Amino acid sequence: MKKIILSLFVASIFLVFVISSCTSRNEEEYFAVQTVDTTGNNQDTTTLVSYQNDIAPIIAGNCSGCHQGGAQSGGVSMNNYAEFSSKVDRVVVMISKTTGFMPKGGQKLPAAKIELINTWKNQGKKDN
Ligand code: HEC
Repeated sequence: MKKIILSLFVASIFLVFVISSCTSRNEEEYFAVQTVDTTGNNQDTTTLVSYQNDIAPIIAGNCSGCHQGGAQSGGVSMNNYAEFSSKVDRVVVMISKTTGFMPKGGQKLPAAKIELINTWKNQGKKDN
């Protein structure tokens, strides 16, 4: 009888240990999910991407023929900060697609440039 009680005791301690370790893992997952940006409003200021220095040159170099200086393919013009920032959600979708992406008929932008535009968007589309 003593042995049974003892082994039950050991088993329950083991169970408590298992349950509590599960709980803390869930907490980690919970917080990990919290840091993933799904809204595009994450104000990450660690390495601030610049519209003038980082973003505008990518657009000028890859999109200007069809979307700048009077060209408005698909009704989309991106001549300046105001025009570009209002469309950046759609831009990120279009440059990230695997087929039918922008630049239309061209090479897919390098992943680093796509990431740069996405980061700028997530940092709050700053006019910097
Ligand atoms: C060779 C011309 C050309 C280039 C270069 C080009 N586009 Fe486009 N873009 C188009 C055309 C044409 C459309 C209209 C939709 C279509 O025909 O696919 C369009 C549509 C769009 C749209 C709206 C699509 C939608 O469904 O909302 C966005 C956003 C866009 N382009 C972004 C860009 C970006 C960003 C670049 C540069 C990385 C770029 N485009 C380069 C021709 C071009």
